[in-house]
Amino acid sequence: MASTREGGFVRVASVEDLREAGTLRVTADGRAIGLFYHEERVYAVDDRCPHMGFPLTRGTVDDGVLTCHWHHARFELSCGDTFDPFADDVRAYPVDVRDGEVWVDPDPDPEESPREHWARRLEDGLQEDLSLVVAKAVVGLDDAGAPPDVPLRVGVEFGTAYRAGGWGSGLTTLAAMANLGDAVERADRRRALYAGLVEVAGDCAGEPPFFAQDPFATSDVAPGRLESWFRETVDVRDADGAERVLRTAIAADLPRPALVTMLVGAVTDHRYLDSGHRLDFLNKAVETLDRLGWEHADAVLPSLVPGLTAASRAEERASWRQPVDLAALLDESFEALPALVEAGADREWTEPDGFVETLLSDDPHAILAALRDAIEGGASARELAEAVAFAATRRIAQFGTGNEFGDWNTVHHTFTYANALHGLAGRVDGWTVYRGVFDAAASVYLDRFLNTPPAPLPDPGESPRAPEAVLDDLLETFEVEGPEQVARSGALTAEYVDAGGDVDALGARLGHALLREDAGFHPRQNLEAAFRLHDVFASAERKRVALVAAARYLAAHTPTRRAGEQTFTIADRLHRGEQLHEA
Ligand code: FES
Repeated sequence: MASTREGGFVRVASVEDLREAGTLRVTADGRAIGLFYHEERVYAVDDRCPHMGFPLTRGTVDDGVLTCHWHHARFELSCGDTFDPFADDVRAYPVDVRDGEVWVDPDPDPEESPREHWARRLEDGLQEDLSLVVAKAVVGLDDAGAPPDVPLRVGVEFGTAYRAGGWGSGLTTLAAMANLGDAVERADRRRALYAGLVEVAGDCAGEPPFFAQDPFATSDVAPGRLESWFRETVDVRDADGAERVLRTAIAADLPRPALVTMLVGAVTDHRYLDSGHRLDFLNKAVETLDRLGWEHADAVLPSLVPGLTAASRAEERASWRQPVDLAALLDESFEALPALVEAGADREWTEPDGFVETLLSDDPHAILAALRDAIEGGASARELAEAVAFAATRRIAQFGTGNEFGDWNTVHHTFTYANALHGLAGRVDGWTVYRGVFDAAASVYLDRFLNTPPAPLPDPGESPRAPEAVLDDLLETFEVEGPEQVARSGALTAEYVDAGGDVDALGARLGHALLREDAGFHPRQNLEAAFRLHDVFASAERKRVALVAAARYLAAHTPTRRAGEQTFTIADRLHRGEQLHEA
């Protein structure tokens, strides 16, 4: 029948026709609306199931409940609210019956803005650990014009509140993906946020919440005392005490460098906590505060404490004690640190030839002596962190594919530790950061057998091919498993760089290749760290090696089943109004 408009209402059907049919699909203002005649009343809802778009007019109404037939989501018919959070509420439209005709308002005033709606749905998705809901919310927020910091903030607020174990791999992934999002195209930035948020939801699923301690009532405690209290409480694994001290420091508005120094001190009081993860988590927490604002410090920083106090300490591991007592050698160097730092205070250091080769050598005494000499010669923690980070990058770029697959994790841990240390060394200086440099160097030393024999670095040279052709070949290496693809990906990356290929384009394509995969924590961490170190390294040679390492690590971990990508694609298509059930 021809529609007629009065006010906001549109005439869409006769009551008699609807009563006979029970349900009708009508269109008003371009919207497909499902009409239902039930218990002598008329109802109207969006005809697309909010879960995956199935027509609700092909569902069933019983006892006031509308059930979708695809995945059996149920909706309260009068308001559209769902019984099943995986599906979301369906939009209900106001109905008026006038003279035997059904009138519907297809555009009622929304109760909340699209940004409010999708932010709320993101919280729902995180609470229920529902990937599809998270994906829809990320897409919806982006389409509503919300900047990436909005889903990041929702994820951080949720992740820091609802996991008793505090900041873990989920929030670290989210922080890394927020960074990676800056280097990829808009669609992949959505994928990056989705990937990070899904990890946060998974990390918190089934976990008790994080119950916050109060700060001390006084703010009249000297910063130095707060720092020593914090490190002492972490040292004896007193999580409650450490948290209260840290919250007191935050409440007292300690300057950011003092807060970071306090945390770096506690993280480096023992060796290489949790295979280096704790320092990386700290760095990512601090980066997150830079993005969201330090007013969130009271939520973010204390969430680091449970992991910090429970962390494994490398000096308790045999590999750091036998056959060389690395922990004892490091302690000797640490005792000398204050004097070395003082001696180097007014000196300028230039990295000597062969410095990184020494770091990659099999002589721990020579490695530690080189670091001590450098500090005495004026090397800053950041300069040394860069050199050690490059040594760690070489371990990946030259990782022997004859090793066990799990050994990729070992070189990766050192790599991300060194990257995080470099980041923190840019914020604070001093002997606590130097300790991290020594730990990173010790870990590079311990990883030496994973370069036996070392995979050769691709020789620099000219390519007869256009960079785009090389890039296409490179992306194919991520479609096939096997060690030969690892070698090929490194060679093609080097060829692309040597051919003058645009590094930003390479980064965007590598990012896409990662983000379509069920890559997990380490590959996501790895690529983000590699991009960062590429930007940090001063020389073209080091930048090239960083990209080679990134491609090799990615090729070793691809392809996967891409289940997450399938979920993301469904969410994206639904948002664009596509009919999934017909496809
Ligand atoms: S429950 Fe309706 S489409 Fe899945």
